[in-house]
Amino acid sequence: MTTRYRVEYALKTHRRDQFIEWIKGLLAVPFVLNSQPTGVFETRDGTVRQMAEEAHRRYAEIMQDVEDMIDDHIAHQKVGLQGQSKLKLLVPSIGIFFTRLPLADAFRYQDKKRFISSRRFVPPSFNDIRLILNTAQLMGATMAGQIDLATFDGDVTLYDDGMSLEATNPVIERILFLMSHNTKIGIVTAAGYTEEEKYYQRLHGLLEAVKDSTALTSTQKKNLIIMGGESNFLFIFDPTAPYLLQHLPRRTWILPSMSTWTQPTISALLDLAESSLRECVANLSLNATILRKERAVGIIPSVPGSRFPRESLEETVLVVQKKLEMSEVGQTLPFCAFNGGNDVFVDIGDKSWGVLVCQKYFGSSSPNEGGTIRGDRTLHVGDQFLSAGSNDFKARVVGTTAWIASPAETVELLDELVEMIAVRAKKEK
Ligand code: IMP
Ligand code: MG
Repeated sequence: MTTRYRVEYALKTHRRDQFIEWIKGLLAVPFVLNSQPTGVFETRDGTVRQMAEEAHRRYAEIMQDVEDMIDDHIAHQKVGLQGQSKLKLLVPSIGIFFTRLPLADAFRYQDKKRFISSRRFVPPSFNDIRLILNTAQLMGATMAGQIDLATFDGDVTLYDDGMSLEATNPVIERILFLMSHNTKIGIVTAAGYTEEEKYYQRLHGLLEAVKDSTALTSTQKKNLIIMGGESNFLFIFDPTAPYLLQHLPRRTWILPSMSTWTQPTISALLDLAESSLRECVANLSLNATILRKERAVGIIPSVPGSRFPRESLEETVLVVQKKLEMSEVGQTLPFCAFNGGNDVFVDIGDKSWGVLVCQKYFGSSSPNEGGTIRGDRTLHVGDQFLSAGSNDFKARVVGTTAWIASPAETVELLDELVEMIAVRAKKEK
């Protein structure tokens, strides 16, 4: 049994989120003890309702306990002892928290929506907990202050994989609402192009809506930027430009610590990544084309419309990642190897740098805050948060994050946020 468990664990860590799995385990106990699957054939009055109430109470208590443990972790963080908190001992992969997470309230909110406590056969799931964490993050961030910067991944977050942001996309009006409340917006995508036209094709619905908006002031309209290739190409919204975007030269926005990313090291890293990708293509017999770009290298299907097996994509990411991690150049230059759904890319830099650049770009006008937007006032929304082979995961070290699974979930998340902003505004009146 132990061996089997270890094998499973070793093989699957890249597909698991330890924190979510741990909470799932905690909630499984009251589920087993309280749920009354026999209620399906034993129909005594009120049993189901009673069971739901009891399960709700006990789930909420557990979420309160986890919330308290996070508070304790934050207290440790404040004095530089985050490695010694109880939470860290229980969940070794836990990182830093930028805000409190009101998990008990977030659970009550999601239970009303998802009827988690009313289920008799299906225990609290990964998705239930992921959504509770998202709600808690929004609550925590809006209680601590205002979200000054919201960054969004592109594919799967704003639009379906490989598609574009069309004018009819319901996410547009939510983003415009945030902009009208002076929240800055960054689209932080892996898609790496140097031409404005390519980003216009992907994002035209949003760009045209911002241009046409009568609700936004011209200053607010300037609060939209695109960070492409994870952290490599910066474009700002410009209503007078042919594609409504202006490409800013790198020297005008790079962070001081990025000045060591020199061309010879970039080429060396991409060469190594390319040769590892070629090896995987041969070993796994993939009908793939290698795409080498200025700051990235990837594999895409040779036959448009054909699909790679998921396992092959994951294997490729893990092999290339390991090779690069173990190389000298991989230790001097940040990179991101990830599975894009039906392609694998290795990019120079990663989304933590991309979000940092957005924080700095917008924060430079607020010198009292140190010229940057703080992590607790930043929210990155993305779909890729598994620890290996996922590009949004890296954003966790620079700000708060929300993990969504589809563009429709992004819309729901923003509706929650809009509601919280409205409640807060009412209270302040
Ligand atoms: P994201 O979800 O917005 O981060 O976009 C990821 C997708 O962008 C990948 O799956 C690729 O299909 C596409 N892509 C296009 N160019 C690049 C590149 O240079 N690097 C990484 N991904 C790219
Ligand atoms: Mg994505």
